[in-house]
Amino acid sequence: MDNNRFITSGKTLTDLEIENNLRPLSIDEYIGQDKIKSNINVYIQAAKKRKEPLDHVLLYGPPGLGKTTLSHIIANELGSQIKVTSGPVIEHAADLAAILTNLGKNDVLFIDEIHRLNKTVEEILYPAMEDFALDFVVGKGPSAKSMRLKIQPFTLIGATTRAGMLTNPLRDRFGVICRLELYNENDLQQIVERSAKILGIDISPEARLEIAKRSRGTPRIANRILKRVRDFAEVYSNGKVDLNSAKNALNMLEIDEKGLDQIDRKILENIIEKFGGGPVGLDTLSAISGEDSVTIEDVYEPYLLQLGYIARTPRGRIAMRGAYEHLGKTPPDDVN
Ligand SMILES: Nc1ncnc2c1ncn2[C@@H]1O[C@H](COP(=O)(O)OP(=O)(O)OP(=O)(O)O)[C@@H](O)[C@H]1O
Ligand SMILES: [Mg+2]
Repeated sequence: MDNNRFITSGKTLTDLEIENNLRPLSIDEYIGQDKIKSNINVYIQAAKKRKEPLDHVLLYGPPGLGKTTLSHIIANELGSQIKVTSGPVIEHAADLAAILTNLGKNDVLFIDEIHRLNKTVEEILYPAMEDFALDFVVGKGPSAKSMRLKIQPFTLIGATTRAGMLTNPLRDRFGVICRLELYNENDLQQIVERSAKILGIDISPEARLEIAKRSRGTPRIANRILKRVRDFAEVYSNGKVDLNSAKNALNMLEIDEKGLDQIDRKILENIIEKFGGGPVGLDTLSAISGEDSVTIEDVYEPYLLQLGYIARTPRGRIAMRGAYEHLGKTPPDDVN
């Protein structure tokens, strides 16, 4: 994923620095995703009451929506230790076995990018998740024996942007599966308000709303825009962020009123001009836009779909009326 671009909802280095102080620590501070929050809260309370580990949780959804944040909050609310790792980091089955045997009772193991676990590593997880046990084969040939080692009961929290890439046996072992949704303007506005308070930024309510509107439903992007807008305000208007200075800064960053950047617009333009509005397959679209198909699918599409600018059909992506209008083009009569 191209991390030099502004819109990218993937993490950049500066994000890592600021995300640590902006990351909410308790479920009350976590804004939006109300359904997920209230469900998870019930499961947490129940698990605590029974003194049992929480069921394994799978969190999925586009980058920057708060999966990592929520995982830490769940561990905090459980009063449990959290051990953090990620799919591509665990190379060998023995590495994961070592992590699992070192977990304490009812601890949380967080595996980010869980869709990238390799097959042999993943297989260690099946008995671990189901029976809190590790299965080993000792010796070779006819004298080989299978052995089972008990481990402490724990909760696995898996996070992924691509739930579709999880194998069925793995997905089936999660008791709680939550899909994080893009945030609405009101939630994003509150997130900007909270972040501004923490960072000591003086910002008007209108400016907050403007940032919310242009953050494509993503807290990470809202926080990133807030920081940049502050920089512009410091140089041009004594540090106070009002609607005008926010708009100016966003325009300089080439983020339009809907939060789209050049790549979004290029994608829409390609569908409309080169493919007569579509349908066009993801790979073709990727080749012609010069963005890899995973990025298009994970980062660009969710928001364009939410705006109703494109739609997915079995034969590919099509441009909708809103896309034509956004680009100042006249939609053909037969477009919805
Ligand atoms: N519900 C929320 N309320 C307030 N801030 C939030 C919320 N969700 C996310 N954030 C902010 O957005 C930042 C990015 O969130 P996070 O790192 O948890 O996303 P993610 O879904 O794990 O992304 P990725 O898929 O790239 O790993 C956090 O540091 C936090 O500041
Ligand atoms: Mg994350």
